Amino acid sequence: MLLELSGINKSFKNGGQYENILEDLDLKIFEGESIAIKGKSGCGKSTLLNILGGLLPLDSGQMMFNGTDISKLTENEQAEYRRKNVAFVTQNFHLLDDRNVYDNIALPLLYLRIPKKQIKSRVEKVLHDLEIEHAMKRNISTLSGGERQRVAIARAIVKEPSILLADEPTGSLDEKTEESILSIFDTLHQKGMTLVIVTHDDSVSSHCQHIYELHHKKLHFVSC
Ligand SMILES: Nc1ncnc2c1ncn2[C@@H]1O[C@H](COP(=O)(O)OP(=O)(O)OP(=O)(O)O)[C@@H](O)[C@H]1O
Ligand SMILES: [Mg+2]
Repeated sequence: MLLELSGINKSFKNGGQYENILEDLDLKIFEGESIAIKGKSGCGKSTLLNILGGLLPLDSGQMMFNGTDISKLTENEQAEYRRKNVAFVTQNFHLLDDRNVYDNIALPLLYLRIPKKQIKSRVEKVLHDLEIEHAMKRNISTLSGGERQRVAIARAIVKEPSILLADEPTGSLDEKTEESILSIFDTLHQKGMTLVIVTHDDSVSSHCQHIYELHHKKLHFVSC
């Protein structure tokens, strides 16, 4: 098992009151699985994804990654967990707008202190795989929404993470761009990457092996 959440609780303080967002939630993710998470706006999907990515602490419960209890790690060790194993495609991409496509994709590899020559070949490969080579030297601010989305995915997968967490990865795309993103996810899945995709879109979830709905603070199995 790659990731296992057991009895997770998470609340946020709003207006002086704590509100439970996730309550006694369990989830098992096996290596190489693809999972879709659906649910109403505000039900806690991004919160859950941030927990899986080690970005948010738990109130209580346990999160095991490859047999290690993530919540027991120090902050530095948790950062290391994120850098090495987890890739995020967030709702608003978080790209560096004033840098070019190449630099954005190379960044996670610089953090991992990978030699420059190897960085170049790995960035060039994802640029090719995601069909954005033509835009390599362009600033992010000049790209279309679909191109930005592909750069965000390229930056996420370039470090070859164990798990890719994607939050509404096809959010505001047209049908054709959405199809090209979905076929990228299919290829990543076939190569053995574990995918967790938050989506409202049935055509996205139908590409996943398992579908869960987040409802009443817990995950409910919808189909497989
Ligand atoms: N840092 C925070 N501080 C306080 N409240 C928060 C925080 N982050 C999220 N929330 C609240 O927790 C709830 C769940 O938020 P979350 O972003 O996980 O929802 P979501 O299911 O991803 O929604 P959407 O589909 O609109 O993206 C919401 O009510 C939100 O306002
Ligand atoms: Mg969200």
